[in-house]
Amino acid sequence: MTGDTAGSRIVLRNTLREHASPYDLAGDARAGLSSTPKTLPSKYFYDARGSHLFEMITRLPQYYLTRAETEILEREAGRFVEAVRPRVLVEFGSGAARKTRILLDAMLERGLLEGYGPVDVSAQASRHAADTLIRDYPDIRVEGVIGDFERPRDLPFPGRRRLMAFLGSTIGNLEPVQATAFLTSIRKEMTAADAFLVGFDLVKDVVLLERAYDDEAGVTAKFNLNVLRVLNRDLGASFDLEMFRHRAVWNAGNSRIEMHLESAVEQSVRIQSIGLDVSFAAGETIRTELSHKYTRESAVGLLEASGLRVESWCTDESDRFALALARALG
Ligand code: SAH
Ligand code: TRP
Repeated sequence: MTGDTAGSRIVLRNTLREHASPYDLAGDARAGLSSTPKTLPSKYFYDARGSHLFEMITRLPQYYLTRAETEILEREAGRFVEAVRPRVLVEFGSGAARKTRILLDAMLERGLLEGYGPVDVSAQASRHAADTLIRDYPDIRVEGVIGDFERPRDLPFPGRRRLMAFLGSTIGNLEPVQATAFLTSIRKEMTAADAFLVGFDLVKDVVLLERAYDDEAGVTAKFNLNVLRVLNRDLGASFDLEMFRHRAVWNAGNSRIEMHLESAVEQSVRIQSIGLDVSFAAGETIRTELSHKYTRESAVGLLEASGLRVESWCTDESDRFALALARALG
């Protein structure tokens, strides 16, 4: 197949610079670094380097999430696809779209597969995934959105029967209020024939949880620190990465792992393009990520509060991770 023919099977609409896009590094950095405690939204981790580092995280022995979710998909994908008979797969936070292939294969085997609609802020990860998918699935069309999934306007493939997927426990990276808002906005886009498949990481031993987010090889630390590189490059900031430490701590009250970057010393950091000086006390942190852990009850509660009815709940053999298949209520 020629490059031109292949290219015509991929449409990636970039919405990052559209009017009122929620992807606003300058605005979010200003707000987050001026507040107490300091925070940065996690969507800014995923430039080319960050997306690559995340892929490395998924292969770490400590990061059980990817393996557990893969185990469930390999066992259940056929059953999910039989139950929904989708023509297209729409995926939020698709990244490298590797686990995605298990669902695409199940659709292909049943003669259903027409299209794939990735929605992800990472332009590089989306392009790379689309290129490799059209090579490996000769009849697939990719119609994706490079943009913030929290603003799901004009989702791909309207009018086609869609399986919507939200894998990797990315739902856990949203605060419960945001998660409900996100799920509700997706539910409103769904017809009675569509279905939603979402991965939840489950509450478990704190030691296992903390290890998954703080490996000895330091890959997760590099990933966390990458957001400071993004600020240095895109906002002319002057973060010295040697002066910040990766921290991952379990917050029992909120049932979540929190990722922080802790200032090793008292220091002040200039962010040139927004004219902001940020001062840090020694030991002060920027909270960069939340990863909520669910129980069956809390996950079902979240879905129901968003107008979604759980049709199927599947866990891996060791009950570490769950996939819920849900339908829009009413
Ligand atoms: N689905 C893959 C990747 C998960 S990592 C897996 O399960 O392994 C989270 C993915 O979500 C990344 O690809 C990141 O670029 C994307 N992402 C994070 N926040 C986002 C947002 N607000 N809108 C769209 N994509 C987002
Ligand atoms: N969705 C992933 C999770 O919650 C994101 C993630 C994994 C992550 N490791 C990380 C985010 C380390 C920040 C830092 O498991």
